[in-house]
Amino acid sequence: MQGKRDSFTSRFGVIAAAAGSAIGLGNIWRFPYVLGENGGGAFFLIYLFFIVLIGIPLMLTEMTLGRSAQRNAFGTFKFLAPKTGWPLVGIMGVAAAFMILSFYSAVAGWTLEYTLQAVRNNFAGKNPVELNTMYGDFVSGSFWPVVWMLIFLFLTSAIVVAGVSKGIEKYTKILMPVLLVIIIILDIRAITLPGAGEGLEFLFKPDFSKLTGNTVLEALGQAFFSLSLGMGTIITYGSYINRKERLMSTAASVSLADTLIAVLAGVAIFPAVFAFNIEPDAGPKLVFITLPNIFQQMPGGYFFALIFFVLLVIAALTSSISLLEVIVAYFSEELKISRKKATWLSGIAAGILGVLSALSYGPLKDVTLFGKTAFELLDYVSSNILLPFGGLLITIFAGYILKKAVMKKGVEGESGHEKLFKVYYFIIKFLAPVAIAFVFLNSLGILKF
Ligand code: PFF
Repeated sequence: MQGKRDSFTSRFGVIAAAAGSAIGLGNIWRFPYVLGENGGGAFFLIYLFFIVLIGIPLMLTEMTLGRSAQRNAFGTFKFLAPKTGWPLVGIMGVAAAFMILSFYSAVAGWTLEYTLQAVRNNFAGKNPVELNTMYGDFVSGSFWPVVWMLIFLFLTSAIVVAGVSKGIEKYTKILMPVLLVIIIILDIRAITLPGAGEGLEFLFKPDFSKLTGNTVLEALGQAFFSLSLGMGTIITYGSYINRKERLMSTAASVSLADTLIAVLAGVAIFPAVFAFNIEPDAGPKLVFITLPNIFQQMPGGYFFALIFFVLLVIAALTSSISLLEVIVAYFSEELKISRKKATWLSGIAAGILGVLSALSYGPLKDVTLFGKTAFELLDYVSSNILLPFGGLLITIFAGYILKKAVMKKGVEGESGHEKLFKVYYFIIKFLAPVAIAFVFLNSLGILKF
């Protein structure tokens, strides 16, 4: 097919790029608020369970499929299972990428606005009620939420145009370690707040009486969203990994790094939620109304606010480029249009859909379908339905359609760990698909447990 494909150039580059995709608004914005809406510790435990049981093996599977085929998500299925319907899984992934990219960019736009507010020192002197109003005034507008969303998409497209090794790898390699350092500084600040204990208890102490069938689906959706699984992102990145890479440890490192950042974000946010009497189930605004309270009441708060929001923008960018890459790799490889054209056209299309999300808390807030705004619907359908469903199909593909020998060679080449492969294969063939199917049937009310 295409000439020499671009690829990652170092092991650290691979891990940084994949971790860059995984770590993003999903960890710092979505994880805390979804956890807050679902009662705290019990959600966290189920989330961890899904990361280990389904997330890590599925990440390994996606990397393996992509690397074996050296193609985009659609092309990977076409190559590994020619003349079948399987490439549709790739198409589903491209659709999911568009949907996620659109609302993701809207939220990333909020982080750009908050970065500017931080630069201007606009959190200073405001009480929790005023900070809440400040957020409300901003998101209910019809101009800035759209403009920031478009600026963010422009930045994303500009990086993706540059390609894999010169664009994606180069930036994520620098940005990811910076992110880790900054978030640890924030944690130290948060756990020394008066009343921090209550927040930590909310996060870590499971209260199973708060569980519902939907909580379990939310935890599964969050696990997929956070690890960028179920839609071909990791298949696409896997296709840029060279044959010598040990995928088992790569997949495990990336998943653990992602989980660590989510936990660190929770540790930064929940002590503050309780210290400032904010409702933990405040929803998507949680991060935005919680953290400015800490910043403006701590020494060096100006500085901390600024680095935090810069961090959030960075984390969002390294993820949004992976979303766009799924779409661009598909269009440029399958439809043979230039990478540049594919990127800008996809960026514009995502921007059009993004307007619906960006206006969902303002002029379009009463326009709902199934009781959800465009923003909520795009998020719910992609995270809780398309990703787990895509993941289910990928496990079935790897466990039943491809030959075991092909998977074995794909996972670790000739020098594989026999025992670990056996455990992995059992999970991917039986445990993971059954678990995902159970969660679906349960949340549809077809099965009650
Ligand atoms: N994993 C990203 C995050 O946690 O912010 C979001 C994401 C990126 C989801 C790429 C899906 C994806 F394919």
